[in-house]
Amino acid sequence: MKFLSVLWTRQKRLASTCQIFLLLFNFGAIVYFIVAYASPRDVIAMNINQNLDLHTNQTRKTTTRSIFITDTFNDTVAKTLKEKVRVLIWVMTSPSTLDTRAKAVNDTWGPRCNKLLFFSSKADSSFPVIGLNVSEGRSHLTAKSSQAWMYIYKNHFNDADWFMKVDDDSYVVLENLRYFLSDKNFSETHYFGHTFKRENLTFYSGGSGYVMSKESLRVLNEVGYAKKLCDEDGEFEDLRMSKCMKLMGVPTVNTVDDQGRNRFNCLAMYAHLVGLYPPWYYELDINGAKKGKDSISNYAISFHYNHHQEMYIIDFVLYNLQTYGITRH
Ligand SMILES: *[C@@H]1O[C@H](CO)[C@@H](O)[C@H](O)[C@H]1NC(C)=O
Ligand SMILES: *[C@@H]1O[C@H](CO)[C@@H](O)[C@H](O)[C@H]1NC(C)=O
Ligand SMILES: *[C@@H]1O[C@H](CO)[C@@H](O)[C@H](O)[C@H]1NC(C)=O
Ligand SMILES: *[C@@H]1O[C@H](CO)[C@@H](O)[C@H](O)[C@H]1NC(C)=O
Ligand SMILES: *[C@@H]1O[C@H](CO)[C@@H](O)[C@H](O)[C@H]1NC(C)=O
Ligand SMILES: *[C@@H]1O[C@H](CO)[C@@H](O)[C@H](O)[C@H]1NC(C)=O
Repeated sequence: MKFLSVLWTRQKRLASTCQIFLLLFNFGAIVYFIVAYASPRDVIAMNINQNLDLHTNQTRKTTTRSIFITDTFNDTVAKTLKEKVRVLIWVMTSPSTLDTRAKAVNDTWGPRCNKLLFFSSKADSSFPVIGLNVSEGRSHLTAKSSQAWMYIYKNHFNDADWFMKVDDDSYVVLENLRYFLSDKNFSETHYFGHTFKRENLTFYSGGSGYVMSKESLRVLNEVGYAKKLCDEDGEFEDLRMSKCMKLMGVPTVNTVDDQGRNRFNCLAMYAHLVGLYPPWYYELDINGAKKGKDSISNYAISFHYNHHQEMYIIDFVLYNLQTYGITRH
């Protein structure tokens, strides 16, 4: 699967790079206009309130701005959920993408985890990444993954109740992940992701991430790895992981929402919106590779194949950008 996705990625890299830059340009333009139009409005407000110095009196500036911006984000519920649904996410990265992708993760959604870990084939003095004893490369992804899961079981089992693996070009909306997990029991074996099907085997796509309960992590280590039931090296990491979990009685399930929309999205947001799908997605997606707004859950959990700069856009749109006069609930 990973092999297919790499082929596709290479073929599409050029096209998708253009798409991304167009997207960035469009967003840039929107943000530019918002900023450009917001400033004069502030100045008008300033004049109404007279004798106000925008640059020195921060208190008054805030007061003035509230004339125009009355909606602010209220994160009370999300904060409460962060304490109740503790999530550790580990990011599979590599020496060559530390400065771009891993950094973007650390700058955007990463800190919203209860615990965030980066694993690579090498440690690095300038980035908090754990070096595993594996060779880089596609054919050793399973070794990277199995060593990371063993390391987490040994060193961080008590730091969280749910444990998720993603790639360094994945974007995770932590609040929606916790919401999805909030009615599930971490003392039972659970395991969630985006379901693919190849021949008679269903498995979770690696890039959109898969999350397992504390009990599943225990079983994976104490039974799967300890009894050598699960592969510890090789390519197709995601496929091998699902196969291994199934051997231990932990099935894959369909995680679409009640309207059949994806929570775990295997491609970038724009790819799902316009249906820019590679052949393998049509082949593997068990829900018919639907496209458009109505194919993505309003409470989506993850996206994959994000350009590192795109992560900053998604983050800004989700957590900062407001639409004046519209309150989100
Ligand atoms: C800022 O405005 C507040 C409220 O009008 C005023 O009390 C305060 O002295 C001002 N501070 C400065 C540094 O001008
Ligand atoms: C924020 O949301 C919580 C939960 O819905 C609510 O109880 C609280 O009053 C809200 N706070 C503000 C300032 O609106
Ligand atoms: C990662 O993010 C944390 C804050 O969340 C920051 O303190 C740290 O410097 C960042 N590390 C790198 C290498 O950017
Ligand atoms: C890698 O191997 C060394 C030597 O065996 C060991 O000390 C270290 O803990 C290992 N690293 C991880 C992350 O398991
Ligand atoms: C969660 O599962 C465990 C193990 O099956 C059980 O003992 C516990 O009562 C469950 N908790 C809830 C809130 O259902
Ligand atoms: C499909 O099922 C058959 C028979 O149950 C089994 O031998 C085969 O290995 C399965 N194929 C895959 C890809 O798991």
